[in-house]
Amino acid sequence: MSVEKVSTGIPGMDDVLNGGIPERNAVLLTGGPGTGKTIFSQQFIWSGLEEGEPGVFVTLEEHPVQVRKNAEGFGWNFREYEQEGMLAVVDAFTAGIGKASEYEKYVVKDPTDISELTGVIRRAVEDVDAKRVAIDSVTPLYMDKPSVARRIMFRLKRMLAGLGCTTILVNQIAAHERGFGGPGVEHAVDGIIRLDLDEVGGRLWRSLIVWKMRGTAHSMYRHPFEISDEGIRVDPDKVFDKSSGQVREIPEE
Ligand SMILES: Nc1ncnc2c1ncn2[C@@H]1O[C@H](COP(=O)(O)OP(=O)(O)O)[C@@H](O)[C@H]1O
Ligand SMILES: [Mg+2]
Repeated sequence: MSVEKVSTGIPGMDDVLNGGIPERNAVLLTGGPGTGKTIFSQQFIWSGLEEGEPGVFVTLEEHPVQVRKNAEGFGWNFREYEQEGMLAVVDAFTAGIGKASEYEKYVVKDPTDISELTGVIRRAVEDVDAKRVAIDSVTPLYMDKPSVARRIMFRLKRMLAGLGCTTILVNQIAAHERGFGGPGVEHAVDGIIRLDLDEVGGRLWRSLIVWKMRGTAHSMYRHPFEISDEGIRVDPDKVFDKSSGQVREIPEE
């Protein structure tokens, strides 16, 4: 049986994933600060909208006003799709405090209350009939209680897969952390994409690697990528060697 794939909408990324993310997968997008996690997740939601697939963007780390402004910087007008009823931005940041939050339709007062969080996300998904969801980020949900991380991730995953959504769960790690966010999280998700920023030879290099993706074969190489005014672009034909800082063509197999 062949698996339906959801295009990431990020140039080059679908080649790395052999066509895209298998439908209904919950994928952990993990990386240190400034590695491009927010841009990646916004681009995933935006490209879906452009293809006619409604989406939900859940923000826990930034004010929803800031989220829309950040997206607009790449030419992604979230507001327009919100007005059309194709996009819901879930505010799990302001706790409903402040003038600007009065205009938010989907507010989670206490994101660590997993029932409230899943309830609001469910309402948003059903309202816009979302096919894609991004949660930026899941880290604060279990920061102070790693033992429940697995349970929280399973609960989110079960709900979103049940609703037919393909999901990106952004996860923050420290700049030079080796893992992906702890065993509870890493094992609960269907896929792991890790974004990196490495200093080699006096400059920073961006690269990403797909560590795991249920339901598909994927590239086993670390690929260089860049961020520009248009968002993220991945080079599926090149490999980045962290130790030497060299980028070279992937040999034909
Ligand atoms: N227009 C742009 N052109 C090039 N790089 C950019 C642009 N906008 C942002 N960046 C890069 O993206 C980084 C922020 O990406 P972001 O997705 O917010 O990171 P994260 O969410 O992983 O912390 C910035 O630190 C900067 O290096
Ligand atoms: Mg971010």
